[in-house]
Amino acid sequence: MINVGFIGVGSISAVHLRFLQSRKDVRVVALCDIKPATLRGRVAEFGGRPYHYFHEMLAREQLDAVWLCTPPEVRREPLLDCARRGIAVFCEKPVERQATAAAAIARALARLDAKVQIGYVFRALPLVARLRAAMADDTIRVVQSFYGCPMSRERTMPAWFFDKRKSGGALIDQATHNFDLLRCLFGDVRTVCGMAHNPAQPKSGRYTIDETLALCLHFENGVIGTHTHSWLADGWRNEIFLSGEKRVYRMNLGTQVLTVDDGSRVRTHACARGSMYAHENVVFLRMLARDDWRANPCTYADGLRTLRLTLAADRAIETHRAVSG
Ligand SMILES: NC(=O)c1ccc[n+]([C@@H]2O[C@H](COP(=O)([O-])OP(=O)(O)OC[C@H]3O[C@@H](n4cnc5c(N)ncnc54)[C@H](O)[C@@H]3O)[C@@H](O)[C@H]2O)c1
Repeated sequence: MINVGFIGVGSISAVHLRFLQSRKDVRVVALCDIKPATLRGRVAEFGGRPYHYFHEMLAREQLDAVWLCTPPEVRREPLLDCARRGIAVFCEKPVERQATAAAAIARALARLDAKVQIGYVFRALPLVARLRAAMADDTIRVVQSFYGCPMSRERTMPAWFFDKRKSGGALIDQATHNFDLLRCLFGDVRTVCGMAHNPAQPKSGRYTIDETLALCLHFENGVIGTHTHSWLADGWRNEIFLSGEKRVYRMNLGTQVLTVDDGSRVRTHACARGSMYAHENVVFLRMLARDDWRANPCTYADGLRTLRLTLAADRAIETHRAVSG
C-alpha cells in the first residue's frame, strides 16, 4: 500500500485526490492546509488525518509520497523537508515564482537525491505521444499556441491569482504549460519578445495581472512560434497549431483531439479517456512503486528551465525588448 499525504488542498488537489481515491494501492493518510474550512471539507470528502503545519504532518506520519499543491511561493520548505526524509513528491507547477529561489532549490534537491516530479501535465498525455508519432517524418517550421479563459471576466478564482507578484498571472500560472510542452517538443528558446494589454480593467491595487498578451518565440532549432493568451475569453480553450513541410497539426489540449491535415485528407484522433491529470499520476505512482525515476516526465531541474523561459517572456513584455530564452 502506498501511503500518501497532501500539502495544500485547494482546487487542484481535488483532481489528484479523486484519481488516488480510485486506486486500490493508495491510501490517503494525511492532508494539510493552513485554511481550516478548506481542510475540513477535503478531509470529509477524502479522509486522512488533518494538519495545519506540514512539518508536523511529515514528522508524525509514515508517508511514501506527498502531493504539493500550494501556491508557487510555497515550495522550498516542503520540498526540502520531504527530500530529507526520502519522501517522493508530486509538485504542482510552476516550480517556484522566482528563478533564483528555484535554482537554489534545484541545487539542494540534487544534493539530497530527491525524487520530485513536476506537474506539467501535458508531458504525459497520450495526445502528445500521438502528435509526436504523427509528425515523426515531418519538419515543423511554425507553431501557434493559444490559451483563453474567462478568469478576469468571472473573478471566481482566489485573489492571489490576480496578484501578479504571487501567481505571475496568465503567463506564469497558465502559459507556462504551453511553453513547457513546446520546449519538450522543440527544445529551448533562443529569443522571446511580446506585448500585453488590459482592455477591461487597468492594473491597480492587487489586480496586477495582464489580461491579454501575445509573444513571439524563436527556438534554438529554428522553429518560429507565437503564444497568445486571454483572460477575457468566452470559455476555456487551449489549442496549438503546428505547420510542417508535409502536414499541419491542430492539437486541442482541452478536448484532447488531434487533427492531422496533409492537404488531401484530414484525420482526427480523439485521445480523451477520463481526467487529463490521471496520466501524470499514473507515471508518478509507477516510478514510486519501482523506485526507478528514470522515466520522470519532468524533473525539478527541467521545470526550472520552463520557469526561466516563462519569466523571460514576462521580462520581454515588461521591457518591450527581445529577451534570451
Ligand atoms: N497542473 C494544472 O493544470 C494546475 C491547475 C490548477 C492549479 N495548478 C497549480 O497548483 C498550485 C495550487 O493551485 P490551486 O488552484 O489549487 O490554488 P488554491 O489557492 O485553490 O489552493 C492552494 C492551497 O494551498 C494552501 N496553502 C498555502 N500555503 C500553505 C502552507 N504553507 N501549508 C499548507 N497549505 C498551504 C492554501 O490555503 C490553499 O488551500 C499552483 O501552483 C497552481 O499553479 C496547476
